Amino acid sequence: MTVTAADVVTTAPASASPQVVSWVERIARLTEPEEVVWCDGSAAERRRLISRMVEAGTLIALDQERRPGSYLARSHPDDVARVESRTFICSADAADAGPTNNWVDPEAMRATLDPLFTGSMRGRTMYVMPFSMGPVGSPLARLGVQVTDSPYVVLSTGTMTRMGSQALAQIGPDTEWVPAVHTVGAPLAPGDEDVAWPCNDTKYIVHFPETREIWSFGSAYGGNAILAKKAFALRIASAIGRDEGWIAAHMLLLKVTNPRGRVFHIAAAFPSACGKTNFAMLQPSIPDWTVETIGDDIAWLAPGEDGRLRAINPEAGFFGVAPGTGVETNPVAVEMLGEDTIFTNVALTDDGDVWWEGLTPEAPGHLIDWRGEDWTPDSPTPAAHPNSRFTVSAAQCSTIADTWDDPAGVPLDAIIFGGRRASNVPLVAQARDWEHGVYLGATLASERTAAAEGTVGELRRDPFAMLPFCGTDMADHWQHWLDVGAGLGDKAPAIFQVNWFRKGADGRFLWPGFSENARVLAWIIDRVDGRAHGVDSPHGLTPVDGAINFAAAGVSRADWDALFAQDPAALAVEADDTDAFLARFGAKVPAAVREQHEELRRRIG
Ligand code: OXD
Ligand code: MN
Repeated sequence: MTVTAADVVTTAPASASPQVVSWVERIARLTEPEEVVWCDGSAAERRRLISRMVEAGTLIALDQERRPGSYLARSHPDDVARVESRTFICSADAADAGPTNNWVDPEAMRATLDPLFTGSMRGRTMYVMPFSMGPVGSPLARLGVQVTDSPYVVLSTGTMTRMGSQALAQIGPDTEWVPAVHTVGAPLAPGDEDVAWPCNDTKYIVHFPETREIWSFGSAYGGNAILAKKAFALRIASAIGRDEGWIAAHMLLLKVTNPRGRVFHIAAAFPSACGKTNFAMLQPSIPDWTVETIGDDIAWLAPGEDGRLRAINPEAGFFGVAPGTGVETNPVAVEMLGEDTIFTNVALTDDGDVWWEGLTPEAPGHLIDWRGEDWTPDSPTPAAHPNSRFTVSAAQCSTIADTWDDPAGVPLDAIIFGGRRASNVPLVAQARDWEHGVYLGATLASERTAAAEGTVGELRRDPFAMLPFCGTDMADHWQHWLDVGAGLGDKAPAIFQVNWFRKGADGRFLWPGFSENARVLAWIIDRVDGRAHGVDSPHGLTPVDGAINFAAAGVSRADWDALFAQDPAALAVEADDTDAFLARFGAKVPAAVREQHEELRRRIG
């Protein structure tokens, strides 16, 4: 039995607008689910979903005394990361997607998707999830409705967004909302046995920027399927922001209080899996500085009535990379994961708990790895998948700032761009002005990590850390940053570049990172506050000697000097690579970005 239009109407909550109901009807007609469930976002609904998934084998209950309310999911081994090669921006004009996105003509894509989605939910339940990105009712928030046939995606979206009745009530007949359709693409015929992690070898994650629609087929993992996150809050939002004068940024958000009690707000962009969650939960190594968390992944930035750039975290939870999150590197996160957490693709201990590389210095003697196989420290493969994740509510974080869900957002004092760079990029430098900052963001590069497909370690350009997440032409995104900056004038936040990952000739990291990054953050704040000096370098202003107590961070004089060393020959090679990179965008590269590049060349000499 498949759902009829009448079923959709009779099950719809009274507060559902006719537009939402008729869209759900249309998608039900196309995908032919057996049942439709309108999600209310309640705790009872979460409990129901969890028990259904435990029964289906999708979730494994962890020891409920050690980790109350926490479960482990193991994905299909081929469904473990975002698939950039299957991610499409289908703007009407190819030029609006630009050279860094996969573009397909919207009509051609619709013709491809239509047969795939036809009957794709047969034998399954279609969940309808209304959600708000940003505090419900905030002028900076935006609304969406995702349908999905994956209860795992419902559970995750319930944590990552403000999902349910409150969001639905915000959608009136004239409200704009983003429709998102998701199916695992594994219809069940009568009598078919389901599997723990249904998915399809064929995958499509498709965005239509003009009609603000998202269609995702074949994967249940992370950004492929939790469409509120990367697909909406970055790709579609970058197109909405361009049209409305605000910015969707792949940035964490921090509130920092200095020893004098002054509060500052910082947004920081890092490519995927560069320790954003660790930085967002920084425990400063220096006394009398307080760092609090507002967001760990996405920020929406909009000029406020006071002329300053204001920021919200549109999400409501953390979907963090587990490996490298440890008792030494991020005690706040480890504590936060003590209860009500969904873990995906980490290892299971013999006593019903979880483990991943980097959680503790020593691995347990025996584990069940992320594939469900026996594992010992001698095993040749990691116990947890390198892109294994935890999904947890932001409210569970002990360092969450009281203003994290302020509907008015927070005013930004500084913006940071960071990457994972073994060479060339200094520990920290301040951009000379907004245009120089946009140039640093536009030419950002990082070594590839496990968050997406590709060879780990290879250097790739990741402008604004948005390469996989920009729903517009990337060069148009740079121009948009320049335009927003011009509007802010002297109220624009200061821009900085950081690199925690520089290595010495012997391959050693030169900077300890983690809590010691507070020393760099303090210098950044002191610059904003007019309390610290900088010296000119090709990359911008770097700290004057003595401004950062590196010895207290355990760094030798020689390593400190190496963290800022500039090799003109290596910089010239990188500048050539930047030329080739910019050439990809042709005439669309903003004049200000070209001028900054010429300026860098002059400074390298
Ligand atoms: C993420 C990513 O999952 O950037 O946050 O890949
Ligand atoms: Mn991210």
